[in-house]
Amino acid sequence: MAQHQEKARIIRFEQLSPETVRLTLAAPQIAADARPGHFVMIRAGLGKDPLLRRPFSIHQAISNGQIQIYFRVVGRGTELLAKTKVGETLDVFGPLGRGYRIEAERPAYLVGGGLGIAPLLFLAQRICQTGRDLSRDQILLGGRSRDDVAPLVPDFQQFGLPLQVVTDDGSYGRPGLVTDLLDGERIDPSGVVYACGPEPMLAQVARFCADRGVACQVSIESVMACGMGACLGCNVDASGGGYLHVCIDGPVFNAEDLAWNM
Ligand SMILES: Cc1cc2nc3c(=O)[nH]c(=O)nc-3n(C[C@H](O)[C@H](O)[C@H](O)COP(=O)(O)OP(=O)(O)OC[C@H]3O[C@@H](n4cnc5c(N)ncnc54)[C@H](O)[C@@H]3O)c2cc1C
Ligand code: FES
Repeated sequence: MAQHQEKARIIRFEQLSPETVRLTLAAPQIAADARPGHFVMIRAGLGKDPLLRRPFSIHQAISNGQIQIYFRVVGRGTELLAKTKVGETLDVFGPLGRGYRIEAERPAYLVGGGLGIAPLLFLAQRICQTGRDLSRDQILLGGRSRDDVAPLVPDFQQFGLPLQVVTDDGSYGRPGLVTDLLDGERIDPSGVVYACGPEPMLAQVARFCADRGVACQVSIESVMACGMGACLGCNVDASGGGYLHVCIDGPVFNAEDLAWNM
């Protein structure tokens, strides 16, 4: 897969909640090669603070040469990104990693928790473009509260796929965890679960799928320095022993290929 370094102009800035921002960037080369589950590395500051680029899932890639990222402010890098303005440019490198492998003929269950719902929008769009009967598919989204999920629900609804939402505090959708939603679903054993979210949630999804013999692909996070397999900073334990690099072997893995240490 070709990778590109682009000076991406910020086209749109959306403060979707007090803690979350969505940026639309003009990055035509990255947009052309991006697939759901791929990520980009973005330099957040102008100088050496912070020195390292930060990884973000591609939230959407639009045919007019634009990509979107959706992030929560957690530290210095995301704080700087949240202060950017329309018209400024960002140094963006990507698309990187291995994305979701869409099984076009099989029912799809998209399961997202917290910021993990970011890459699932792009995935939902591409699944809809497969042109098959989508009536057995499901999108299941969970967040801590209304702010985590409500701003993105209209974007997910545009595809017409069945959608259910839960929040930990019940402030939006039903109260509960997204894993409760999955538990209550009649999952077709020939289907594929595509998940992204915090590690404990993914571990539970992986266990659920393993118990029922359902294929499961998970997108995981790790601290990253290079994003290209050079620094060994993003190793995770493989189920067969040894390590895998999140940046080049993932971030999307078959759940059975990872050692779930919880
Ligand atoms: C492949 C990949 C895709 C990602 N996609 C997204 C995305 O789409 N949207 C998004 O918001 N984030 C995403 N992340 C996480 C994102 O890279 C980090 O939130 C970001 O690097 C934090 O940078 P910072 O400089 O703001 O914080 P740092 O200064 O690096 O960290 C500040 C503090 O926040 C903690 N922290 C770091 N990352 C997180 C996190 N994810 N959640 C909670 N606390 C954290 C650190 O441990 C530290 O205590 C992704 C990560 C990976 C590896
Ligand atoms: S981030 Fe450097 S090896 Fe993966």
